[in-house]
Amino acid sequence: MKITPWFHRSLFSLGLGVAGLTAVADPKPLKIGFAQTGAESAWRTANTESMKSEAAKRGIDLKFSDGQGKQENQIRAIRSFVTQRVDAIVLAPIVETGWDPVLREAKRAGIPVIITDRTIATADESLYACFIGSDFATEGRMVAEWLAKNTNGQGRIVELQGTPGSAPANDRRRAFAEGIAKYPGLQIIDSQSGDFRRAGGKEVMEAFLKKHGKDIDIVYAHNDDMALGAVQAIEEAGFKPGKEIKIVSIDAIREGVQAVADGKINCVVECNPLFGPKVYDTVARVLAGEKVERKAYNKDELFDATNAAAALPTRQY
Ligand code: AHR
Repeated sequence: MKITPWFHRSLFSLGLGVAGLTAVADPKPLKIGFAQTGAESAWRTANTESMKSEAAKRGIDLKFSDGQGKQENQIRAIRSFVTQRVDAIVLAPIVETGWDPVLREAKRAGIPVIITDRTIATADESLYACFIGSDFATEGRMVAEWLAKNTNGQGRIVELQGTPGSAPANDRRRAFAEGIAKYPGLQIIDSQSGDFRRAGGKEVMEAFLKKHGKDIDIVYAHNDDMALGAVQAIEEAGFKPGKEIKIVSIDAIREGVQAVADGKINCVVECNPLFGPKVYDTVARVLAGEKVERKAYNKDELFDATNAAAALPTRQY
């Protein structure tokens, strides 16, 4: 086994035994700092819960920080994790850019950083150990393909974007636009951010309806919370969501899949937030000096009228 600066006292609190090292094992619980983006959506709540409950199950001392939607809060949290000498840092980065200086501080302190959920853009790939999350571009492409098939390639689309500068907003936007480019009948007529929030989705949809009225055929929402906000706005404006205006979105939270079963949303692509176990398994391997996959993507499904109702009883988030 290769011994790295990241291989140290915490192996045994992760349940890993290494022959011959038992005598020097330190019983201290593993200390992990988790810088979460905030609490903007039901997806996020499920992700936080997965990270917290799995930490409790494994006896990990989790230092949790809610970034409240601000990168500067997440940077401050990482600095405080370094000061507290945590064993590893898990970061769900709110936006893609601007992380290098603080990640360099963690690297200098010998603390590995695992990026989860959203990718970062960095000039130095050695600043983090690995990434765990979903492939947002694949999600955007899956939505585009479903739409092309189920609309005969026709329709005027309004887009509810996620948080500006975030990887899911950037990737879902780009991949969807590329996906529909082969269908000239599918046109994005307006696009604005609802910040991944239900209230944001409702507010932006109200503005779209005021501006475009009956010209809107399709809503593409970057997450279910905004799609559910759009459902409300559409109903209040006297239209039938899912019928007069089709809605497609991403996440597959239980309420989103229920809305598909109810015929108010037409299709949701999954973005699974329950990766607490995978993250802590990976932290263990990184601390043990093992080689881990550089980018480990979750496998995500698609739900529409054909399978949503059947999937509901087993939805976990
Ligand atoms: O980064 C994942 C996205 O962030 C989810 O799709 C969204 O619901 C969340 O807020």
